[in-house]
Amino acid sequence: MSPAAAPRGDDAVAGQPGGYTGPARHVAIIMDGNGRWAKKRFLPRAVGHKRGVDAVREVVRAARHMGLEALTLYAFSSENWKRPEDEISDLMGLLRAFIRSDIDEFAANDVRLKIIGDYKMLPADIVELIEDALARTAQGRSTTLAIALNYGSQQEIARAAAAAAAKGAVTVEAIEAELDTADMPPLDLLIRTSGEIRLSNFLLWQAAYAEMWFTDVLWPDFTPGHLREALDHYATRERRYGGR
Ligand code: IPE
Ligand code: IPE
Ligand code: MG
Repeated sequence: MSPAAAPRGDDAVAGQPGGYTGPARHVAIIMDGNGRWAKKRFLPRAVGHKRGVDAVREVVRAARHMGLEALTLYAFSSENWKRPEDEISDLMGLLRAFIRSDIDEFAANDVRLKIIGDYKMLPADIVELIEDALARTAQGRSTTLAIALNYGSQQEIARAAAAAAAKGAVTVEAIEAELDTADMPPLDLLIRTSGEIRLSNFLLWQAAYAEMWFTDVLWPDFTPGHLREALDHYATRERRYGGR
């Protein structure tokens, strides 16, 4: 029986046309709304970003407990350099502190840290911290935590296409093999917080057949319960990949 004609249910092949949805393997989140969270409370934006880091910590723990193979978090886009210098410096400071404080927990729990995006453009001491953290967690076999830093999907696709061309074949498979996410499972679910319904240059290629979940919850308020809600919704989706 061809996959397209397979009945819905356990004997259908996950990821194939007409297939049973199966548990999500790879979830990505556009963590948006830190500034609005702070504004609503008459607090500086930096406080919103700091509370955003607390939400990251909880969501990473939850992703591990829920058995996700991969979680990709949009932390700083290639366009976020347009923000005022003091906000960029607050964000870099939080990133520095986060890596320092959380790397032991990742290593102890077998989390593999990964960075997507052109992180070498970040301040040199952060690049060094990142590279130490990558080396320390490279053998992690529980969840892959990919953090998108100085990430822009159009730039990523252009780099991947150029690399594929240099090897002689600009095909879908060849480009895919050069993307920053090449060693990760296919993207199943893309979540964006804060009510904005746009991708903001995040995982444009990878989202081709991903399910999407948009919520008005502002990122600092996002809890493991919200992640569970999105995953429960995902489990009800029928993914057709153009088939029927
Ligand atoms: C998301 O929150 C964090 C980053 C983009 C670094 P924002 O700072 O974009 O918050 P809003 O969208 O202004 O509320
Ligand atoms: C996307 O959020 C980038 C991150 C969450 C890191 P932005 O707040 O930068 O996106 P726009 O500007 O509203 O599209
Ligand atoms: Mg925003």
